Amino acid sequence: MPLSPLAEVIVRGLTSAPKSLPPRVLYDERGSRLFEQITTLPEYYPTAAERGLLVASAPTIAERTGMRTLVKLGAGVLDKSRILIDAGLARGTLTSYVPVDISAEVLMKSARELQKQYPLLSISPVEADSMGEWAIGGLASPVVISFLGGTIGNLFPRERVDFFRRMCLAAGAGNYLVVGTDLVKDVDRIVDAYFDSQGITEAFLLNVVEVMNDECGLGLSAEDFDYVPLWDARESRMDLRLRARRELSLNLPGGSSTCRIAEEEEIRIEVSSKFTREQVCAELRAGGATVVEQFDDGDFALTLAVVDS
Ligand code: AVI
Repeated sequence: MPLSPLAEVIVRGLTSAPKSLPPRVLYDERGSRLFEQITTLPEYYPTAAERGLLVASAPTIAERTGMRTLVKLGAGVLDKSRILIDAGLARGTLTSYVPVDISAEVLMKSARELQKQYPLLSISPVEADSMGEWAIGGLASPVVISFLGGTIGNLFPRERVDFFRRMCLAAGAGNYLVVGTDLVKDVDRIVDAYFDSQGITEAFLLNVVEVMNDECGLGLSAEDFDYVPLWDARESRMDLRLRARRELSLNLPGGSSTCRIAEEEEIRIEVSSKFTREQVCAELRAGGATVVEQFDDGDFALTLAVVDS
């Protein structure tokens, strides 16, 4: 039987050196629920910080852009979409909302809910992996493409610039990007956000073991691993890993290959970069956009940029 695309990704990650898996393995149904719980934790400040910034800045964003089309990369977290939609409608310019998400189910559910609330808004969902090779065209200008939640920080530096390039290409010259980024701050606060007292983030990362079992039938147990959240000061990022408690020998699907995980060997699952304001401006510039305005509360920044011609 052919492997699912996710199983292929997992096999590749487990057989690479060093071992690493992409963050999308975190978001099966249970993982998505755990992530929603994370966003309500007292230690996990980014969600509330970004929501506050959106409330404060959405009218300015609507005014400065005159947005007719709002694109949201990642269709979940509807309350954040609503803040921008309300501002665009209040300004009388917004006519079209384009949510982009890898999950058809999430996409349809969120589109249905929003359509009920905004019957006159044209909603055109796009099923695509917004963290991968997506492309959208034919959008009515002025366009605002938003990428919120600090998810850009889950990419590596070169990937981030490529990502901004893709956003610029989709928006077109003279149109706009809105990007949420977590900012550098006291290291203890950052580490606490990824090592919460209720153990929800630990469960979120260990859920990857279940995802590997579901996709590849590996027969692993969450007890086989420890969750290891590391602060990488040089790269200014959290580095979230699973460390094997004992040596593991796995039969991989799709052939006769096996894989050995040594005792204490680590599998990197996700990085979460923390930025300076200047770094956000520089990376956007490298991707082809110039910052118009930056809104921040010291913890998190929301950056509005215009695509260069
Ligand atoms: C989705 N992303 C922005 C989250 C973050 O903070 O990097 C994912 C996350 N991982 C553990 N906690 C939250």
